[in-house]
Amino acid sequence: MRVLVTGGLGFIGSHTVVALLENGYDVTVIDNLYNSKLVVKDRIKEITNKDFKTVIADVQDEKALDEIFKDKIDAVINFAGYKAVGESVKKPLEYYDNNLTLTFALLKKMREYGCHNFVFSSSATVYGNPERVPMYETDPVTDATSPYGETKVMIERILKDIAAVTPDFNCALLRYFNPIGAHKSGLLGEDPNGIPNNLLPYIAKVATGELKEVNVFGNDYDTPDGTGVRDYIHVVDLAKGHVLALKKLEQNPGLVIYNLGTGKGTSVLEMIHDYEEATGVKIPYVIKPRRAGDIATSYANCDKAAKELGFHCDYTVLDACRDGYHFQVEEAKRKKEGK
Ligand code: UFG
Repeated sequence: MRVLVTGGLGFIGSHTVVALLENGYDVTVIDNLYNSKLVVKDRIKEITNKDFKTVIADVQDEKALDEIFKDKIDAVINFAGYKAVGESVKKPLEYYDNNLTLTFALLKKMREYGCHNFVFSSSATVYGNPERVPMYETDPVTDATSPYGETKVMIERILKDIAAVTPDFNCALLRYFNPIGAHKSGLLGEDPNGIPNNLLPYIAKVATGELKEVNVFGNDYDTPDGTGVRDYIHVVDLAKGHVLALKKLEQNPGLVIYNLGTGKGTSVLEMIHDYEEATGVKIPYVIKPRRAGDIATSYANCDKAAKELGFHCDYTVLDACRDGYHFQVEEAKRKKEGK
């Protein structure tokens, strides 16, 4: 089975390509290197001992898509897209334009070439500020609190409308909670440019001494210790979820929706302590005001993915802290050596 992975050199994409290659899939990647590096391809090859076709182009490049779809593509996993919540508030036009247009380009090309299977990277953000936790797939999809989140809501809606009138279209909407960690080899991980927005990449840079202390955004939430609670899932577990979703699509289910999380919430302060325990490195922090747009608590009910996909997590938050730190240290060494 040949799978096209858009954004396949990015954080979640690269781990998913590893999982696909390890499970015998024939993989083609398209990536414009907007938020990724070409060297990731070599690292995936090093981990898996397998090669795969890589096209460096934008998903909106029709010629590039034609070249790819000429070899029969059986399924598409779409990771490509802008993903920074804060930036999306400042650049709504760019976010709506890019994330929606590239999805349209892909879906049209799939229709043209008779490809019927689509896996979409959605997000827990589609639940907005939830009325209850854990969140279930049947809970209302409401105001997503940012243009980035709204692109996920809109694309989910578009895919539902297409599925309703296209009997042979199979589509998995995978609602990720908070992906963290890295591949245990230390070769793949998350290394955002500049000052990280997300908690774990920020903690990692404090751990390596690149940043002084973690800013804890609010300790007056209605949570056990007052700090925000999230469902942090190891990226390797998340990657496995994509392989299971593809297997599900082979059964022609139409449109299916799954939460991919652990089902367990961890607060910011617990995460800082877990990171210290996993790595032995002291993480200084200061309490700051709440960050605009944040919600108090978000964690998944994952029963549906467990029952219908056989999805379960192999790794804990401590494993993710250890693997994330390992990657950070190795990446810092590689950068020093100019690699
Ligand atoms: N936080 C801090 N300090 C920081 C960064 C984050 O205290 O420097 C806190 C936040 O306030 C929040 C928690 O850590 O309570 C997690 O924040 P992240 O920025 O790591 O993650 P979010 O839950 O805000 O957002 C993530 C992804 C989104 C996705 C969302 C889905 O970044 O793409 O999960 O729930 F939409």
